Amino acid sequence: MTRSGIVAGGLAVAAVIVASALLFTNGVSAQSAKRAPQLETKDDASARPWKRYAGWPARDEAKFNTLGNLASPPPPTAPRKLSAPIDGDAKKGAELVADRNRGGSCLACHTMGPAGGAALPGNVGPDLSELGNAGREDEWLFNYVYDARVYNPDTVMPPWGGHGIFNDQEIGDIVVFLKTLKSPAPYKTELDNPDKRPAPVEKRDNLDPIENPGMWAVDKAQELWKQKSSIGFSCNTCHSEPKETFKTWAASMPKWEPRLNKVLGVEEFVTRHTKATTGDVWLMETDENRAMAVYLRYLANGTPIAIDTSSADSKAAIERGKALSQRKVGELNFACTDCHGKSANHWIRGQWLGEPKGQFDHFPTWRTSLLAIWDIRQRFQWCQVNIRDDELPPDAKEYGDLEIYLASQNDGLKLNVPGIRH
Ligand code: HEC
Ligand code: HEC
Ligand code: HEC
Repeated sequence: MTRSGIVAGGLAVAAVIVASALLFTNGVSAQSAKRAPQLETKDDASARPWKRYAGWPARDEAKFNTLGNLASPPPPTAPRKLSAPIDGDAKKGAELVADRNRGGSCLACHTMGPAGGAALPGNVGPDLSELGNAGREDEWLFNYVYDARVYNPDTVMPPWGGHGIFNDQEIGDIVVFLKTLKSPAPYKTELDNPDKRPAPVEKRDNLDPIENPGMWAVDKAQELWKQKSSIGFSCNTCHSEPKETFKTWAASMPKWEPRLNKVLGVEEFVTRHTKATTGDVWLMETDENRAMAVYLRYLANGTPIAIDTSSADSKAAIERGKALSQRKVGELNFACTDCHGKSANHWIRGQWLGEPKGQFDHFPTWRTSLLAIWDIRQRFQWCQVNIRDDELPPDAKEYGDLEIYLASQNDGLKLNVPGIRH
């Protein structure tokens, strides 16, 4: 396809960009003279109003911080005084510490004696199986569970009372139960013991369509590549050798996009470039978008991730992403780094917490437990909803900042897409 062909396509955006690129061809290096890809810049790249995915919990957490907004109540400044000794029900307490509907339960992070032996406890927090021998005061235990920030500003424990997840009576029941814990957990097998449970290893061949059903996306994208839009354009009209042309491109993404004033990832690029060139509307989190995003990253498989980390705009975005990853969000008051930093390489109940390095090179990824492909933005959204936080639309600028920060921590790892994960 020639330049005049693009102009003849009647696309004003293309014409303007080609024209401005031509101005630079004199005396400027070929690199900087490279045309900027056409992008639709006015519309949203995902559905509005954003509606949470079907099957995800329908909670509204507007009272708490999100990645876009600060709203959580401040931490307590002093421990609460108890006017009378705690009168609670240990049996109720035992049920509450294991109740997954209350923020995932205490066993997500602690082994707790007999209760721990039964339920794949995690080891983000200390083993509390013998806490009853530690001589802790009722008032101290009550406050630690109510809102541990009063004693430890850096705690990763959710403020169970401060954020209203348990009421005072329930916390009393939990304290009475904790005081009954006096002997080591009776693990039935080594797997039950989070300190002995081996870290999961992903050994499946993710590029084998039999092992990875997510490979459908590669086939689907190859069809889409040649499928003409209503104005008669396909990707193939302008890019007839995608395997050659895009052999490395995706490994340079995400990147700062001045025309949008935010970080652009592969998925949002697909929406905006497609709209500007073929006229098709492939919003983020639709099958067409997922398939094309998988394909473009698949074409660059084996290429080491090498995003721009040196320009001032990229650096600023990476810094913002880093700050967002440390922001306490949601009802459970977690920062991304509480799990993927401080507690990385530990078990949170039956789930192994990965560290940022290795969390980006395989996206979009087929999830065998869900029979679906998730792109990186959907993964961000789920980590938020799972900690009782309100997610943002996938094209939110905050996710761009988080994505470029994550990509910068994966620098040098080779793309391997579509990945496959539980
Ligand atoms: C996200 C992980 C996490 C969850 C969930 C969690 N804790 Fe903790 N907990 C910790 C960590 C980590 C510590 C260690 C000190 C700290 O970070 O505050 C801790 C410390 C404690 C302590 C202080 C122990 C001591 O003697 O120093 C108590 C008591 C406690 N947790 C009780 C609970 C109870 C009860 C629940 C459920 C209502 C719970 N925890 C849920 C992570 C967690
Ligand atoms: C009307 C022509 C046209 C069509 C149709 C078109 N593109 Fe492009 N595309 C371009 C131009 C021009 C560029 C700028 C770089 C270049 O000169 O190759 C580009 C660049 C790209 C890039 C690299 C972006 C970058 O930052 O360098 C990708 C990936 C891409 N296109 C994918 C697609 C896909 C997928 C489709 C189909 C949905 C498509 N294109 C349809 C003209 C087109
Ligand atoms: C309460 C703990 C917790 C918090 C907080 C949390 N996550 Fe996760 N995250 C998980 C678990 C569990 C998984 C699945 C196991 C794994 O791969 O680490 C996961 C997976 C991921 C993955 C995919 C890893 C992979 O290799 O497939 C990414 C990316 C991710 N989280 C990013 C984030 C971001 C960004 C935040 C903050 C907005 C965040 N997470 C907050 C627990 C958490």
